[in-house]
Amino acid sequence: MRAAIAARTLRTDAWWRPPLLTALGLTVFVVYATVRSFVRTAYWVDRYHYLTPFYSPCVSASCAPGSTHFGVWVGELPMWIPLAFLSLPFLLGFRLTCYYYRKAYYRSVWMAPPACAVAEPHSRYTGETRLPLIVQNSHRYFFYVALIVSAINTYDAVLAFHGPAGGFGFGLGNVIIVANVILLWAYTVSCHSCRHATGGRLKHFSAHPVRYRMWTWVSRLNTRHMQLAWITLGTLMLTDFYIMLVASGTISDLRFVN
Ligand code: FES
Repeated sequence: MRAAIAARTLRTDAWWRPPLLTALGLTVFVVYATVRSFVRTAYWVDRYHYLTPFYSPCVSASCAPGSTHFGVWVGELPMWIPLAFLSLPFLLGFRLTCYYYRKAYYRSVWMAPPACAVAEPHSRYTGETRLPLIVQNSHRYFFYVALIVSAINTYDAVLAFHGPAGGFGFGLGNVIIVANVILLWAYTVSCHSCRHATGGRLKHFSAHPVRYRMWTWVSRLNTRHMQLAWITLGTLMLTDFYIMLVASGTISDLRFVN
C-alpha cells in the first residue's frame, strides 16, 4: 500500500546509501567473476595442484593438464564457453534465487522498493507470482546441486595438499583454499531451503530427534546467512586471486611443508 503523497519519499536521511553499497559490491563480484571465468589463464598451479573454484570441475580437453580431477568428458571448448560450464550456471542460479540475494538486488538493482517508505519507480507489482520471478521458486533444486559443487570443491581442496616433487605438501594456498571451502559449506548449509529440508513439514519434533538436532544447527547458521553470502563472495575472489598470482609466477606460494 503506497502512501497518498505526491513526493516519492519524505525521508531526509541517506536511505540511498545501503542499496548503493549493495549494488557496488555485487557489481564488483559479477565483473571479477565474469572476467576470470572466461580468460583461461593462471587458474591452475601444477606444482601444488591448486585449482581456482572458478574453473572447477574442469572436464574438457581445453583444461590445463592435471586440472581435470574428474577426467575429460568433452573435447576442446570455444572461448565463449567457460571451462567450468558444468557448475557455473547452477552456482549462478543458486545465488540469484537465494532468499538473501533476492532481498539485496530487489532493493538495490530493481529498487522495488529501495528502502522503507521510499516508493518504487515501477507502476505495477506482481511479486513472484508470474514469469519471470516465479522461477525464484526453483531455489531448492539449485540448493541440491550446490551441495554437489561444494563436495567437488572439497575434493579439489584435498588434492591441493601436494608437494612439488609429489606426496604431501602444505602452503598458504592450502589455508586460503580450505578456509574458502569451509565458508562455502557454511553458506550452503545455512540456506533457507536446507533449513526446510532438515526440519520442515514435521508435525512433532519429538518424533524426529535427529532431524530436530540438524534443524537447530542449520537454524543457528541461518541467522548468519547474509554475512556468509557476502563473506563467500570475498573468499571466492581472494582464493582465485591468490591462485592467479601464484600460477602466473607473480608471487611464490609461502610453503610450510615441502
Ligand atoms: Fe540463500 Fe538458499 S537462501 S542460498
